[in-house]
Amino acid sequence: MKELKNYLEENKQRYLEELMELLRIPSVSADPKYKNDVRRMAEATAEHLRKVGTDAVEVFETDGHPIVYGEKMVNIKAPTVLVYGHYDVQPADPLELWDSPAFEPVVKKTKIHPDGAIFARGACDDKGQFFMHVKAFEAMLKFDKLPCNVKFMIEGEEEVGSRNLEKFCKANKKKLACDVVLISDTSIIDNQTPSLTVGLRGLSYMEVEVTGPNRDLHSGVYGGAVANPINVLSTMIASLHDKKRKITIPGFYDDVKKVSAKERKMMNQAPFDEKNYKKDLHIGDFLGEAGFTTIERTGIRPTLDVNGMWGGYIGEGAKTVLPSKAYAKISMRLVPDQDPNKIEKLFQRHFEKIAPPSVQVKVTAHHGGYPVVVPTNSVEYKAAEKAMEQAFGKKPLPQRGGGSIPIVAMFDQVFNAKSILMGFGLDSDDIHSPNEHYGLFNYYKGIETIPYFYQYYAAMKK
Ligand code: BES
Ligand code: MN
Ligand code: MN
Repeated sequence: MKELKNYLEENKQRYLEELMELLRIPSVSADPKYKNDVRRMAEATAEHLRKVGTDAVEVFETDGHPIVYGEKMVNIKAPTVLVYGHYDVQPADPLELWDSPAFEPVVKKTKIHPDGAIFARGACDDKGQFFMHVKAFEAMLKFDKLPCNVKFMIEGEEEVGSRNLEKFCKANKKKLACDVVLISDTSIIDNQTPSLTVGLRGLSYMEVEVTGPNRDLHSGVYGGAVANPINVLSTMIASLHDKKRKITIPGFYDDVKKVSAKERKMMNQAPFDEKNYKKDLHIGDFLGEAGFTTIERTGIRPTLDVNGMWGGYIGEGAKTVLPSKAYAKISMRLVPDQDPNKIEKLFQRHFEKIAPPSVQVKVTAHHGGYPVVVPTNSVEYKAAEKAMEQAFGKKPLPQRGGGSIPIVAMFDQVFNAKSILMGFGLDSDDIHSPNEHYGLFNYYKGIETIPYFYQYYAAMKK
C-alpha cells in the first residue's frame, strides 16, 4: 500500500483542483432554475469516472435528475462494492451570509481545520465525499491494487428525497447486484476521534396550511372577532411538545425501540464538549427532551421541528392585516422502528383534530424515509473498522448519526446488502448552512482509508 500513499502525496494538489472544479457547478436539485447545472454536474461526474478507468459509464435519465453509473469488474469471484453518493447539493441561500460565494471554492484555514478547508456548497455534502471514492479508485486501479469489483452509483436527488432512485434500483437489480454498499455522506466525531455511523434517522416531512377568513382583513375592523390563522397555527404548533419536550401526537412513540442501558452508556462515552458546543452556536443553554443527553437527543430520539413558517405581511414597515392563511413546513426525525407512512397519518389525524372550528386545515406529506441501524458484527463493518484504524491509528467508535439518507433503508431490501456509512465530515462543517466546508485533512484521509477497506474486505470475504 506504500505506492498508494506516495501517489496520494504526489497528487494532492491535482485532487484538490479537480474537486474545486466540481464545486463550481451549482447542482442544486431543489430549484428548477439549476436543472441544466445539475445535468452538467452529472456529465462531469461521468467524465471523471471514465477518466479514472471505470467501464460502462452511463448517465441514466429519470423522471427527475439523472443517475451516474460506472463499474469495474475485476474478478467474478471477488466481492462487489457498490459506492453510493450524491452529486446534488442544497440551495446556497441565504447568500448574503456566505463569506465567499458558495460556488467559488476557496481554501481557508480554521481553528478546527488548521491544514485548511475548502469552502463551497457541497464541499462536504457530498461532492468532496463521493469524489474521495473516485480518487481512491484511480489509485487502486493504477497500481493494480483493486481486490474487489466496484460499481459507482451517484445520484442527483438525495437532497430532495431520492424520489427516482428506488425505481432505478428495482429496475436494475441485476446490474447493481453487490455484497456491500459503501457510503461516505456522514461525519466522524472529530479528526482525532474516528467513528463509523451505525444509525441514521428516518424522516416524515409535512406541510400545513391553515385558513381563517376567506380573505385578508383589516386587523382593527375584524381583529378580536375572527380567528387569525397565524395565531392559531402558532398555538397548534406549540402544543405539539409538552413541558418535558416530548411530542404530544398520540401514538408517536409507540414503535420507538428501546435502546439498552449498555448501548446508551457506550454512546455517551464519545467525547463531547458541552461548553464548546454552546459557544460555537452562541446559545445559552440546550433545549431538548427531558431524560436524554445531547448525544442521545440527536442520535436515538425522534424529534419534531418547524423548518419554515409564513403568512401575512412580511414586507418593509407595518401593514395592519389579519391574514387569511398561514403555512408551516414541519419535519419529524424518526428512529427505529418508526414508520414514516404511519407517522404521517398520525400527524395528519392529530393536526386536524386539534384545529379549532374557526379555521380549516390542509395537511400534506412530502418525501420521507425510514430509519437505519447498521449492525456492528458483520464482516463489512469489521473491514471498515480495520480500515479506519489503520488510517487514523485509532479504532473508530460506533456512532448514531442524526441526519437522514432516505434511500439507505431500501438498499437492504432490494440488494440484500448491508450499507457501511464511512463518512469523513465533521458536524461543524456547516453542511446545508452558509460557509459549508470540508477539511483537506478529511478529504485526503478519506482517500487514504478507502483502499484499506477494499483490502480488508476482500481478505475477510475469502
Ligand atoms: N449527508 C446528509 C445526511 C447526514 C449528514 C447524515 C450528517 C448524517 C450526518 C444528507 O445529504 C442529508 O442532508 N439528508 C437530508 C435528507 C432529506 C433532504 C430527505 C437530511 O437529513 O435532512
Ligand atoms: Mn449528503
Ligand atoms: Mn444533505
